[in-house]
Amino acid sequence: MIELREPPACAARRHATDVGAIIGASPGVRPVRLALLGLGNVGQAVVRLLADEGERLRATGVLPRLAAALLRDPQRPRACRLPDGCVSTTDPRALLDQRPDVVIDVLPDAESAAPIVADALRRGIGVVSANKALIAAHGPALHELARRHRAALQYEAAVIAGVPFVETLRRRALARRVTRLCGVLNGTSNYVLSEVERGSGFDEALKSAVRLGYAEPDAARDLSGADAADKLVILARLLGMGELDAAGIERGGLDRLDPADFLAARAVGGAIRPLAFAAATSGGLETFVGPGWLPEEHALARVRNVDNGLLLDSPGGRRLFAGPGAGPEATAATLIDDALDLLRAPDDGGAAAAAPSPPNGAPRTGWLLRVGLPQDGPSWPDLCDLLAAYGVRPLRTHVLNGTVQARRYMLTTPCRRANIEAAGAHLEALGYEAWALRALEASDDAA
Ligand code: HSE
Repeated sequence: MIELREPPACAARRHATDVGAIIGASPGVRPVRLALLGLGNVGQAVVRLLADEGERLRATGVLPRLAAALLRDPQRPRACRLPDGCVSTTDPRALLDQRPDVVIDVLPDAESAAPIVADALRRGIGVVSANKALIAAHGPALHELARRHRAALQYEAAVIAGVPFVETLRRRALARRVTRLCGVLNGTSNYVLSEVERGSGFDEALKSAVRLGYAEPDAARDLSGADAADKLVILARLLGMGELDAAGIERGGLDRLDPADFLAARAVGGAIRPLAFAAATSGGLETFVGPGWLPEEHALARVRNVDNGLLLDSPGGRRLFAGPGAGPEATAATLIDDALDLLRAPDDGGAAAAAPSPPNGAPRTGWLLRVGLPQDGPSWPDLCDLLAAYGVRPLRTHVLNGTVQARRYMLTTPCRRANIEAAGAHLEALGYEAWALRALEASDDAA
Protein backbone atom coordinates (compact mmCIF):
# COMPACT_ATOMS: atom_id res chain seq x y z
CA MET A 1 0.00 0.00 0.00
CA ILE A 2 1.29 3.47 -0.86
CA GLU A 3 1.56 5.80 2.03
CA LEU A 4 0.05 9.15 1.16
CA ARG A 5 1.97 11.82 2.97
CA GLU A 6 0.55 15.26 3.36
CA PRO A 7 2.64 17.81 1.45
CA PRO A 8 3.67 20.85 3.50
CA ALA A 9 1.33 23.26 1.74
CA CYS A 10 -1.64 21.15 2.90
CA ALA A 11 -0.78 21.70 6.54
CA ALA A 12 -0.82 25.40 5.83
CA ARG A 13 -3.91 25.10 3.71
CA ARG A 14 -5.84 23.68 6.65
CA HIS A 15 -5.09 26.81 8.54
CA ALA A 16 -5.89 28.96 5.54
CA THR A 17 -9.24 27.24 5.09
CA ASP A 18 -10.22 28.15 8.64
CA VAL A 19 -9.30 31.71 7.89
CA GLY A 20 -11.14 31.49 4.59
CA ALA A 21 -14.32 30.87 6.51
CA ILE A 22 -13.64 33.96 8.58
CA ILE A 23 -12.85 36.25 5.65
CA GLY A 24 -15.61 34.81 3.50
CA ALA A 25 -13.70 33.43 0.50
CA SER A 26 -15.95 32.21 -2.30
CA PRO A 27 -16.15 28.49 -2.88
CA GLY A 28 -13.39 27.22 -5.18
CA VAL A 29 -11.13 30.15 -4.27
CA ARG A 30 -8.38 29.20 -1.90
CA PRO A 31 -7.50 31.73 0.80
CA VAL A 32 -3.78 32.19 1.29
CA ARG A 33 -2.23 34.04 4.21
CA LEU A 34 0.98 35.94 3.55
CA ALA A 35 3.41 37.51 5.99
CA LEU A 36 5.90 40.19 4.99
CA LEU A 37 9.38 40.49 6.46
CA GLY A 38 10.14 44.16 5.91
CA LEU A 39 8.01 47.09 4.86
CA GLY A 40 10.48 49.17 2.86
CA ASN A 41 10.00 50.17 -0.79
CA VAL A 42 9.45 46.62 -2.04
CA GLY A 43 7.34 45.55 0.97
CA GLN A 44 5.05 48.55 0.46
CA ALA A 45 4.71 47.69 -3.24
CA VAL A 46 3.68 44.13 -2.24
CA VAL A 47 0.92 45.60 -0.04
CA ARG A 48 -0.31 47.89 -2.84
CA LEU A 49 -0.19 45.17 -5.49
CA LEU A 50 -2.14 42.72 -3.34
CA ALA A 51 -4.83 45.37 -2.93
CA ASP A 52 -4.85 46.46 -6.58
CA GLU A 53 -4.61 43.05 -8.26
CA GLY A 54 -7.03 41.11 -6.04
CA GLU A 55 -9.34 40.30 -8.95
CA ARG A 56 -6.58 39.09 -11.25
CA LEU A 57 -5.20 36.86 -8.49
CA ARG A 58 -8.65 35.56 -7.53
CA ALA A 59 -9.09 34.45 -11.15
CA THR A 60 -6.18 32.04 -10.62
CA GLY A 61 -8.11 30.36 -7.80
CA VAL A 62 -6.44 31.97 -4.80
CA LEU A 63 -7.27 34.80 -2.48
CA PRO A 64 -4.01 36.09 -1.03
CA ARG A 65 -4.35 38.20 2.10
CA LEU A 66 -1.65 39.93 4.04
CA ALA A 67 -1.92 38.49 7.55
CA ALA A 68 1.15 40.05 9.16
CA ALA A 69 4.00 42.46 8.47
CA LEU A 70 7.30 42.83 10.27
CA LEU A 71 8.31 46.46 10.62
CA ARG A 72 11.86 47.28 11.50
CA ASP A 73 11.11 50.97 11.99
CA PRO A 74 7.44 51.53 12.94
CA GLN A 75 7.90 55.34 12.81
CA ARG A 76 8.95 55.42 9.14
CA PRO A 77 6.32 57.09 6.91
CA ARG A 78 4.95 54.57 4.41
CA ALA A 79 3.02 54.91 1.15
CA CYS A 80 0.64 52.03 1.76
CA ARG A 81 -2.18 51.03 4.06
CA LEU A 82 -2.07 47.63 5.68
CA PRO A 83 -5.34 45.74 5.14
CA ASP A 84 -7.82 45.35 7.99
CA GLY A 85 -6.89 42.49 10.28
CA CYS A 86 -3.22 42.52 9.28
CA VAL A 87 -0.97 42.30 12.33
CA SER A 88 2.01 44.62 12.25
CA THR A 89 4.81 43.88 14.66
CA THR A 90 8.50 44.35 15.32
CA ASP A 91 8.71 40.83 16.80
CA PRO A 92 9.52 38.09 14.24
CA ARG A 93 8.10 35.37 16.49
CA ALA A 94 4.79 37.19 16.82
CA LEU A 95 4.69 37.38 13.03
CA LEU A 96 5.30 33.65 12.60
CA ASP A 97 2.77 32.89 15.35
CA GLN A 98 0.14 34.19 12.92
CA ARG A 99 0.79 30.91 11.04
CA PRO A 100 1.05 32.36 7.54
CA ASP A 101 1.10 30.03 4.52
CA VAL A 102 4.06 31.85 3.02
CA VAL A 103 6.57 34.36 4.34
CA ILE A 104 7.79 36.99 1.86
CA ASP A 105 11.30 38.11 2.77
CA VAL A 106 12.23 41.60 1.59
CA LEU A 107 14.80 42.33 4.28
CA PRO A 108 17.97 43.92 2.91
CA ASP A 109 20.67 41.76 4.53
CA ALA A 110 21.53 38.20 5.47
CA GLU A 111 22.13 38.83 9.18
CA SER A 112 18.65 40.04 10.08
CA ALA A 113 16.81 37.66 7.74
CA ALA A 114 18.63 34.35 8.36
CA PRO A 115 17.25 33.52 11.84
CA ILE A 116 13.69 34.49 10.92
CA VAL A 117 13.69 32.58 7.63
CA ALA A 118 15.21 29.56 9.39
CA ASP A 119 12.52 29.75 12.08
CA ALA A 120 9.78 29.94 9.42
CA LEU A 121 11.15 26.89 7.59
CA ARG A 122 11.45 24.94 10.87
CA ARG A 123 7.76 25.64 11.44
CA GLY A 124 7.04 24.24 7.95
CA ILE A 125 6.17 27.65 6.50
CA GLY A 126 7.21 28.28 2.89
CA VAL A 127 9.44 31.28 2.19
CA VAL A 128 9.98 33.37 -0.92
CA SER A 129 12.88 35.77 -0.78
CA ALA A 130 14.21 38.72 -2.75
CA ASN A 131 17.20 38.83 -0.39
CA LYS A 132 20.33 38.19 -2.49
CA ALA A 133 22.73 38.41 0.42
CA LEU A 134 20.74 35.81 2.37
CA ILE A 135 20.48 33.30 -0.47
CA ALA A 136 24.12 33.75 -1.52
CA ALA A 137 25.43 33.23 2.01
CA HIS A 138 22.97 30.68 3.39
CA GLY A 139 21.09 29.18 0.40
CA PRO A 140 22.33 25.57 0.77
CA ALA A 141 21.78 25.49 4.56
CA LEU A 142 18.29 26.98 4.21
CA HIS A 143 17.38 24.51 1.45
CA GLU A 144 18.51 21.68 3.69
CA LEU A 145 16.35 23.06 6.52
CA ALA A 146 13.43 23.39 4.12
CA ARG A 147 13.90 19.81 2.96
CA ARG A 148 13.99 18.50 6.52
CA HIS A 149 10.85 20.35 7.54
CA ARG A 150 9.02 19.76 4.28
CA ALA A 151 8.72 23.45 3.61
CA ALA A 152 9.66 25.21 0.38
CA LEU A 153 12.05 28.05 -0.37
CA GLN A 154 12.05 30.05 -3.61
CA TYR A 155 14.03 33.15 -4.57
CA GLU A 156 12.85 34.13 -8.03
CA ALA A 157 13.07 37.86 -7.18
CA ALA A 158 16.66 37.66 -5.93
CA VAL A 159 18.20 37.79 -9.42
CA ILE A 160 16.82 40.00 -12.24
CA ALA A 161 13.89 40.78 -9.99
CA GLY A 162 11.34 41.46 -12.73
CA VAL A 163 12.07 38.45 -14.96
CA PRO A 164 10.93 35.01 -13.80
CA PHE A 165 13.52 32.47 -14.98
CA VAL A 166 15.13 30.99 -11.84
CA GLU A 167 12.41 28.43 -11.16
CA THR A 168 12.32 27.42 -14.82
CA LEU A 169 16.03 26.67 -14.78
CA ARG A 170 15.85 24.98 -11.39
CA ARG A 171 13.29 22.51 -12.71
CA ARG A 172 15.13 21.81 -15.99
CA ALA A 173 18.35 19.83 -15.82
CA LEU A 174 19.20 20.20 -19.51
CA ALA A 175 18.47 23.91 -19.64
CA ARG A 176 20.97 24.25 -16.79
CA ARG A 177 23.91 22.89 -18.82
CA VAL A 178 25.77 26.18 -18.94
CA THR A 179 29.47 26.64 -19.62
CA ARG A 180 29.59 30.40 -19.32
CA LEU A 181 27.37 33.20 -18.14
CA CYS A 182 27.66 36.91 -18.61
CA GLY A 183 25.16 39.28 -17.10
CA VAL A 184 24.20 42.78 -16.17
CA LEU A 185 22.89 41.91 -12.72
CA ASN A 186 22.59 45.20 -10.85
CA GLY A 187 19.82 47.58 -11.88
CA THR A 188 21.12 50.55 -9.93
CA SER A 189 24.58 50.42 -11.52
CA ASN A 190 23.15 49.98 -14.99
CA TYR A 191 20.75 52.88 -14.45
CA VAL A 192 23.56 55.12 -13.17
CA LEU A 193 25.89 54.21 -16.05
CA SER A 194 23.10 54.74 -18.60
CA GLU A 195 22.31 58.18 -17.15
CA VAL A 196 25.99 59.21 -17.09
CA GLU A 197 26.28 58.02 -20.70
CA ARG A 198 23.46 60.46 -21.52
CA GLY A 199 25.31 63.32 -19.81
CA SER A 200 23.95 63.29 -16.23
CA GLY A 201 26.27 63.71 -13.27
CA PHE A 202 27.08 60.53 -11.31
CA ASP A 203 25.66 61.84 -7.99
CA GLU A 204 22.50 63.11 -9.63
CA ALA A 205 21.97 59.73 -11.35
CA LEU A 206 22.50 57.86 -8.09
CA LYS A 207 20.04 60.11 -6.24
CA SER A 208 17.45 59.38 -8.87
CA ALA A 209 18.10 55.59 -8.56
CA VAL A 210 17.54 55.90 -4.80
CA ARG A 211 14.36 57.94 -5.32
CA LEU A 212 12.99 55.36 -7.76
CA GLY A 213 13.57 52.62 -5.17
CA TYR A 214 16.21 50.75 -7.21
CA ALA A 215 19.13 51.03 -4.79
CA GLU A 216 19.90 48.97 -1.71
CA PRO A 217 19.49 50.78 1.65
CA ASP A 218 23.30 50.92 1.52
CA ALA A 219 23.86 51.93 -2.12
CA ALA A 220 27.57 51.14 -1.76
CA ARG A 221 26.55 47.49 -2.17
CA ASP A 222 25.24 48.32 -5.64
CA LEU A 223 28.15 50.51 -6.74
CA SER A 224 30.96 48.32 -5.39
CA GLY A 225 29.74 45.16 -7.11
CA ALA A 226 28.85 43.42 -3.81
CA ASP A 227 25.19 43.00 -4.80
CA ALA A 228 26.10 41.61 -8.24
CA ALA A 229 28.66 39.26 -6.65
CA ASP A 230 25.91 37.78 -4.44
CA LYS A 231 23.74 37.28 -7.53
CA LEU A 232 26.64 35.60 -9.33
CA VAL A 233 27.06 33.18 -6.40
CA ILE A 234 23.35 32.32 -6.61
CA LEU A 235 23.46 31.80 -10.38
CA ALA A 236 26.62 29.67 -10.35
CA ARG A 237 24.98 27.45 -7.72
CA LEU A 238 21.65 27.29 -9.56
CA LEU A 239 23.39 26.34 -12.79
CA GLY A 240 25.55 23.72 -11.08
CA MET A 241 28.73 25.58 -12.11
CA GLY A 242 30.13 25.57 -8.58
CA GLU A 243 29.88 26.96 -5.10
CA LEU A 244 31.60 30.36 -5.24
CA ASP A 245 33.06 32.40 -2.45
CA ALA A 246 31.66 35.91 -3.02
CA ALA A 247 34.73 37.44 -1.39
CA GLY A 248 37.00 35.62 -3.87
CA ILE A 249 35.35 37.12 -6.94
CA GLU A 250 37.41 39.81 -8.68
CA ARG A 251 35.38 42.95 -8.10
CA GLY A 252 35.49 46.40 -9.66
CA GLY A 253 33.40 49.37 -8.56
CA LEU A 254 32.04 52.26 -10.59
CA ASP A 255 33.99 54.85 -8.62
CA ARG A 256 36.96 55.15 -10.98
CA LEU A 257 34.94 55.72 -14.14
CA ASP A 258 34.63 59.26 -15.45
CA PRO A 259 32.61 60.80 -18.31
CA ALA A 260 35.58 60.70 -20.72
CA ASP A 261 35.65 56.90 -20.40
CA PHE A 262 32.15 56.70 -21.87
CA LEU A 263 33.17 58.83 -24.86
CA ALA A 264 36.23 56.66 -25.43
CA ALA A 265 34.20 53.46 -25.04
CA ARG A 266 31.89 54.69 -27.78
CA ALA A 267 34.79 55.86 -29.97
CA VAL A 268 36.26 52.35 -29.99
CA GLY A 269 32.88 50.88 -30.94
CA GLY A 270 31.12 49.88 -27.74
CA ALA A 271 29.70 50.76 -24.35
CA ILE A 272 30.46 50.28 -20.66
CA ARG A 273 28.09 48.09 -18.66
CA PRO A 274 28.24 46.71 -15.09
CA LEU A 275 29.07 43.06 -15.77
CA ALA A 276 29.11 39.79 -13.89
CA PHE A 277 30.89 36.87 -15.51
CA ALA A 278 31.53 33.21 -14.79
CA ALA A 279 33.06 30.58 -17.06
CA ALA A 280 33.74 26.92 -16.32
CA THR A 281 37.30 26.03 -17.34
CA SER A 282 39.50 23.01 -16.71
CA GLY A 283 41.13 24.99 -13.88
CA GLY A 284 37.82 25.78 -12.13
CA LEU A 285 35.48 28.72 -12.38
CA GLU A 286 36.75 32.03 -13.72
CA THR A 287 34.76 35.00 -12.51
CA PHE A 288 34.65 38.75 -12.29
CA VAL A 289 32.19 41.50 -11.40
CA GLY A 290 32.60 45.15 -12.37
CA PRO A 291 32.24 47.70 -15.14
CA GLY A 292 33.35 46.28 -18.47
CA TRP A 293 33.45 47.27 -22.13
CA LEU A 294 31.25 45.50 -24.69
CA PRO A 295 31.07 46.01 -28.44
CA GLU A 296 27.89 47.68 -29.70
CA GLU A 297 26.60 44.47 -31.28
CA HIS A 298 26.81 42.53 -27.99
CA ALA A 299 23.32 41.69 -26.68
CA LEU A 300 24.14 43.11 -23.23
CA ALA A 301 25.35 46.44 -24.68
CA ARG A 302 21.70 47.13 -25.52
CA VAL A 303 20.49 46.36 -21.97
CA ARG A 304 20.10 49.83 -20.50
CA ASN A 305 18.61 51.78 -17.61
CA VAL A 306 17.31 49.64 -14.76
CA ASP A 307 17.09 46.56 -16.99
CA ASN A 308 19.27 43.54 -16.36
CA GLY A 309 20.29 40.82 -18.79
CA LEU A 310 21.72 37.34 -18.50
CA LEU A 311 23.42 35.52 -21.37
CA LEU A 312 23.86 31.80 -20.89
CA ASP A 313 26.17 29.84 -23.17
CA SER A 314 25.36 26.17 -23.38
CA PRO A 315 25.95 23.32 -25.82
CA GLY A 316 22.63 24.16 -27.50
CA GLY A 317 23.52 27.81 -28.07
CA ARG A 318 23.22 31.15 -26.36
CA ARG A 319 20.15 32.28 -24.44
CA LEU A 320 19.27 35.76 -23.21
CA PHE A 321 16.97 36.63 -20.32
CA ALA A 322 16.38 40.36 -19.96
CA GLY A 323 14.07 42.84 -18.28
CA PRO A 324 13.66 44.93 -15.13
CA GLY A 325 16.41 44.15 -12.64
CA ALA A 326 15.14 46.28 -9.76
CA GLY A 327 12.21 48.45 -8.77
CA PRO A 328 9.48 48.02 -6.17
CA GLU A 329 6.63 47.17 -8.57
CA ALA A 330 8.56 44.65 -10.68
CA THR A 331 10.02 42.96 -7.61
CA ALA A 332 6.69 42.86 -5.76
CA ALA A 333 4.95 41.21 -8.72
CA THR A 334 7.61 38.49 -8.89
CA LEU A 335 7.39 37.91 -5.14
CA ILE A 336 3.61 37.51 -5.11
CA ASP A 337 3.69 35.19 -8.14
CA ASP A 338 6.51 33.28 -6.44
CA ALA A 339 4.47 32.88 -3.23
CA LEU A 340 1.50 31.50 -5.13
CA ASP A 341 3.72 29.32 -7.31
CA LEU A 342 5.35 27.89 -4.18
CA LEU A 343 1.96 26.79 -2.84
CA ARG A 344 1.08 25.13 -6.14
CA ALA A 345 4.45 23.54 -6.89
CA PRO A 346 5.36 20.14 -5.54
CA ASP A 347 8.20 20.63 -3.09
CA ASP A 348 11.39 18.96 -4.22
CA GLY A 349 13.59 20.39 -1.50
CA GLY A 350 14.95 23.20 -3.66
CA ALA A 351 18.31 23.53 -5.39
CA ALA A 352 21.02 21.77 -3.47
CA ALA A 353 24.44 23.32 -3.04
CA ALA A 354 26.54 22.94 -6.15
CA ALA A 355 29.68 20.84 -5.98
CA PRO A 356 32.46 22.75 -4.26
CA SER A 357 34.66 24.49 -6.80
CA PRO A 358 38.35 25.32 -6.55
CA PRO A 359 39.11 28.91 -5.52
CA ASN A 360 37.72 31.30 -8.09
CA GLY A 361 40.14 32.54 -10.72
CA ALA A 362 39.57 35.43 -13.09
CA PRO A 363 39.34 35.13 -16.89
CA ARG A 364 41.65 36.21 -19.68
CA THR A 365 39.82 39.00 -21.51
CA GLY A 366 40.47 42.11 -23.55
CA TRP A 367 40.86 45.38 -21.62
CA LEU A 368 40.01 49.01 -22.17
CA LEU A 369 43.20 50.61 -20.90
CA ARG A 370 43.22 54.31 -20.01
CA VAL A 371 46.55 56.14 -19.84
CA GLY A 372 46.73 59.77 -18.73
CA LEU A 373 49.98 61.46 -19.74
CA PRO A 374 51.33 64.90 -20.69
CA GLN A 375 50.73 66.20 -24.23
CA ASP A 376 54.43 65.75 -24.93
CA GLY A 377 54.47 62.22 -23.48
CA PRO A 378 55.65 59.20 -25.47
CA SER A 379 54.28 58.61 -28.98
CA TRP A 380 51.79 55.80 -29.64
CA PRO A 381 54.47 53.52 -31.13
CA ASP A 382 56.69 53.99 -28.06
CA LEU A 383 53.78 53.36 -25.72
CA CYS A 384 52.76 50.27 -27.69
CA ASP A 385 56.34 48.92 -27.49
CA LEU A 386 56.37 49.42 -23.73
CA LEU A 387 53.02 47.65 -23.32
CA ALA A 388 53.95 44.82 -25.68
CA ALA A 389 56.80 43.91 -23.35
CA TYR A 390 54.06 42.93 -20.85
CA GLY A 391 51.94 41.04 -23.38
CA VAL A 392 49.47 43.93 -23.72
CA ARG A 393 48.65 44.51 -27.41
CA PRO A 394 46.30 46.98 -29.08
CA LEU A 395 43.17 46.11 -31.00
CA ARG A 396 41.93 49.72 -31.36
CA THR A 397 43.13 53.03 -29.97
CA HIS A 398 41.63 56.41 -29.24
CA VAL A 399 43.03 59.73 -28.00
CA LEU A 400 41.21 62.43 -26.06
CA ASN A 401 43.24 65.65 -25.93
CA GLY A 402 42.87 67.92 -22.91
CA THR A 403 44.64 71.24 -22.46
CA VAL A 404 47.48 69.88 -20.35
CA GLN A 405 46.96 66.13 -20.31
CA ALA A 406 46.09 63.66 -23.04
CA ARG A 407 44.05 60.55 -22.39
CA ARG A 408 44.96 57.57 -24.51
CA TYR A 409 42.59 54.63 -24.62
CA MET A 410 43.62 51.25 -25.92
CA LEU A 411 41.27 48.35 -26.49
CA THR A 412 43.58 45.37 -26.06
CA THR A 413 43.64 41.77 -27.21
CA PRO A 414 42.90 39.23 -24.42
CA CYS A 415 45.43 38.92 -21.61
CA ARG A 416 45.46 38.21 -17.87
CA ARG A 417 44.97 40.81 -15.16
CA ALA A 418 48.59 40.22 -14.11
CA ASN A 419 49.81 41.47 -17.52
CA ILE A 420 47.69 44.61 -17.34
CA GLU A 421 48.72 45.28 -13.75
CA ALA A 422 52.42 44.90 -14.52
CA ALA A 423 52.13 47.23 -17.53
CA GLY A 424 50.12 49.69 -15.41
CA ALA A 425 52.74 49.63 -12.66
CA HIS A 426 55.43 50.49 -15.23
CA LEU A 427 53.37 53.41 -16.57
CA GLU A 428 52.70 54.68 -13.05
CA ALA A 429 56.41 54.48 -12.23
CA LEU A 430 56.96 56.81 -15.19
CA GLY A 431 54.45 59.24 -13.62
CA TYR A 432 51.48 58.45 -15.89
CA GLU A 433 47.98 57.55 -14.76
CA ALA A 434 46.97 54.03 -15.78
CA TRP A 435 43.69 52.20 -15.24
CA ALA A 436 41.85 49.46 -17.10
CA LEU A 437 38.48 47.79 -17.20
CA ARG A 438 37.66 44.45 -18.73
CA ALA A 439 36.49 44.33 -22.36
CA LEU A 440 34.50 41.44 -23.78
CA GLU A 441 34.24 40.82 -27.51
CA ALA A 442 30.93 40.02 -29.15
CA SER A 443 31.77 36.60 -30.50
CA ASP A 444 34.70 35.63 -28.31
CA ASP A 445 34.08 37.15 -24.92
CA ALA A 446 36.96 35.62 -23.05
CA ALA A 447 39.42 34.02 -25.42
N1 HSE B 1 19.64 47.17 -5.62
C1 HSE B 1 19.36 46.05 -6.46
C2 HSE B 1 19.68 46.43 -7.88
C3 HSE B 1 17.92 45.67 -6.31
O1 HSE B 1 19.79 47.64 -8.15
O2 HSE B 1 19.83 45.56 -8.74
C4 HSE B 1 17.53 44.42 -7.04
O3 HSE B 1 18.26 43.31 -6.63
